[in-house]
Amino acid sequence: QTIYLTDYTPPTYLVDQVDLTFRLSPNATRVISRIAFRPNPDAVSKRFFLHGEELTHISSSIDGTPVTPREVEGGIEVDVPDAPFVWEAEVEIAPAANTALEGLYMSNGMYCTQCEAEGFRKITWYPDRPDVMAPFKVRIEGDEPVMLSNGNPTGSGDGWTEWTDPWPKPAYLFALVAGDLVAREDSFTTMSGKHVDLKLWVRPGDEGKTAFGMEALKKSMKWDEDVYGREYDLDIFQIVAVSDFNMGAMENKGLNIFNTSAVLCSPETSTDANFERIEAIIAHEYFHNWTGNRITCRDWFQLSLKEGLTVFRDQSFSADMRSPSVCRISDVLSLRGRQFREDNGPLAHQVQPDSFVEINNFYTSTIYEKGAEVIRMLKTLVGDEGYKKALDLYFDRHDGQACTIDDWLTVFQDATGRDLGQFKRWYKQEGTPRLRVSENWNDGTYQLTFTQTTPPTPGQEVKEPFVIPIAVGLIGPNGDEVVATQVLEMTEGTQTFTFDGLAAKPVPSILRGFSAPVILERETSAQERAFLLANDTDEFNRWEAGRSLAKEVLTALITGKDAPQAIYFDALASVLREDHTDPDFRALALAIPSADDMAQTLFDSGVTPDPDVIHDATETLKQSRAEYFQDMLPRLMSEMTVTEPFAPTHEQAGKRALGHGILQMLTRLDGGKAAQALFDRADNMTLSLGALACLLNAGKADAALATFRDKWQDDALVMDKWFMLQVAHADPDKAAETVTRLTQDPAFSMKNPNRFRSVFGAFAGHPAGFHQKDGSGYRLLADWLIKLDPINPQITARMSGAFETWKRYDGDRQSLIADQLDRILATPGLSRDTTEMISRIRGA
Ligand code: ARG
Ligand code: ZN
Repeated sequence: QTIYLTDYTPPTYLVDQVDLTFRLSPNATRVISRIAFRPNPDAVSKRFFLHGEELTHISSSIDGTPVTPREVEGGIEVDVPDAPFVWEAEVEIAPAANTALEGLYMSNGMYCTQCEAEGFRKITWYPDRPDVMAPFKVRIEGDEPVMLSNGNPTGSGDGWTEWTDPWPKPAYLFALVAGDLVAREDSFTTMSGKHVDLKLWVRPGDEGKTAFGMEALKKSMKWDEDVYGREYDLDIFQIVAVSDFNMGAMENKGLNIFNTSAVLCSPETSTDANFERIEAIIAHEYFHNWTGNRITCRDWFQLSLKEGLTVFRDQSFSADMRSPSVCRISDVLSLRGRQFREDNGPLAHQVQPDSFVEINNFYTSTIYEKGAEVIRMLKTLVGDEGYKKALDLYFDRHDGQACTIDDWLTVFQDATGRDLGQFKRWYKQEGTPRLRVSENWNDGTYQLTFTQTTPPTPGQEVKEPFVIPIAVGLIGPNGDEVVATQVLEMTEGTQTFTFDGLAAKPVPSILRGFSAPVILERETSAQERAFLLANDTDEFNRWEAGRSLAKEVLTALITGKDAPQAIYFDALASVLREDHTDPDFRALALAIPSADDMAQTLFDSGVTPDPDVIHDATETLKQSRAEYFQDMLPRLMSEMTVTEPFAPTHEQAGKRALGHGILQMLTRLDGGKAAQALFDRADNMTLSLGALACLLNAGKADAALATFRDKWQDDALVMDKWFMLQVAHADPDKAAETVTRLTQDPAFSMKNPNRFRSVFGAFAGHPAGFHQKDGSGYRLLADWLIKLDPINPQITARMSGAFETWKRYDGDRQSLIADQLDRILATPGLSRDTTEMISRIRGA
């Protein structure tokens, strides 16, 4: 059943107060609700409907009089008075049997909840829609040592606790946690001098992994005050780490719940990348307190209102904490790897969708990351001052409301006077725009002509031109910047911009900082890319020049053409030797485009990608590059050695990242000697995992894998890495075998999303292994999706994205994939989540 944005109607009843009592028991938890309703004056009907799924109804009453609700699709209906009334009900639920990890469930012996988007209806009867906001009071009864809910603690006694959340909130922000937990405690004083208790709850034994998360939280609270003027609004802020969680984390009011992988870390067990991600996710969830909780979404079509904005905010935070250009490059890499992939395939959808079947399928890179790009463009267009004015107005005007993306755009129009009618197309037109550039030089005048086109996507054939902010700078032939960055505003299909008074024909640096989420198409020489890699003053475009040079070389190797290898190697070697340049930047410049990126690049240029050929060409390139750089490696390696004690700082992480790039090259030359030595002496996870990856590449990892396992068998997050790495580094023809072997390992569990993802996510991320010509990879994944679906539909649906690129490949592979998609679809009782995803991927 499809839900449409245009079908929105206001809620028929509003809620003034929610009182909940939980009597906890793994297989029979009782939930007693007392909810004060009042007719909504804006309602268009009088029907009293409450959502509810998988609830055992015990009793219900209205104003104290027992009632028998009518069961209808997705919930119940009751006849109610045409005046305010109190609904009371008791239901029973079975958290221990809840493997979908939505609603109230158990993880590792601990009760926890996940209600976004529509999980609250699995807890009790309720109008489970985000535009119904209410204050909640929650009483929890049980034997658990710690029992938490949203808001401030307002009472406790033997076997019970009580929590009061004064801020009206939608049900999706409800949370409850109970179990054997210990807290790292701290506090924060807000800008107006209010004291806030901070608690980060973990399972006993994990206390040693909480220090960094707590620091990240305090930095986030400070940053939101400094940059957005937003202060925290309860007496306490809590984070809980749970082992079984479908996503990264959840911004429940005052009680954020995190996947252990998104909060727990220590130098011994976590990589620099883990630290970075954790800092960003803690910030993200904290920032939701204003962008998401105080101002929430009217309906789920507005999801990007909170997610796009909050991603933009966490990206800005990370840039301030670390290196802006390195953060930008990483953000763009992931945008291209996930969002462009989505936008250019069967799952393309709008940042504000017009319809959906299962909302859980729309927690996508398009809603999140493209949503953030759209806000970044908006900020570029209205300027920093305009953005600040607009955000102040947004918080002022909409605090306490459930809003739409139109409300958001109206705020910008009102604050800046700018008409955003055309800009709104970024929310409504799907697909990645292509921006073609041609140049013209004539006697001191330089012209750039841009043409934008957006290819058709499923259901959207014709696209209107976007407003595209194109940041451009010009570099003179001697390498000096002759025109500093300016933002060209493109609004038409084709547009020419003129630069006068130039002494010589410049080299353009276009789309600086990746000022718009488009694909830039520009015919240019390898020499010019090398020139920009050496001279561009915009760090993003420096990196981009090296990146496109690497792609050009790889494409030539793949298609059997002459590759400008020497130009690439020389230019890259100079960058690597730049002692004054951030090692992290140099590490990113050294990284070779992924197989998936190359497959899309080839496909876009009209070549059918063959994953085996891409794999072999990449290997060839890596080998010859290692040989070419041979002489400079030892010196670089020692320069990148960190002698101070481990700290997850940008500075140290950059050295380790570049050191790893060097080690990968050395491993190709010494067969793994340096990697083994590093593995033996490494005292932090970044180095030991890096060394282990190199040993796997060298085919010399057996002993190290065993040692690693012995050491870490009791640490689930480290074991996830052990699983993941073996798949990621398997030879293409061994990848499926490796997956099968690992799924038979006693430590494998399909019920734990992290473990399942570590194996199958890695498999899907290994195109040459997954796309084996005989179809074994497709069959294997399909088998497991069919097995997982009845257990956890959300993870199954998400993992089926592995098939989303299938139309890029040759006819044989396509028909093998089609067979598997059809087989999955034919599975009796297939979930709504997976049915929607596989059908959309399969297409008409
Ligand atoms: N709002 C959460 C976040 O972005 C994600 C929740 C996702 N939930 C889901 N059912 N897909 O931080
Ligand atoms: Zn979010």
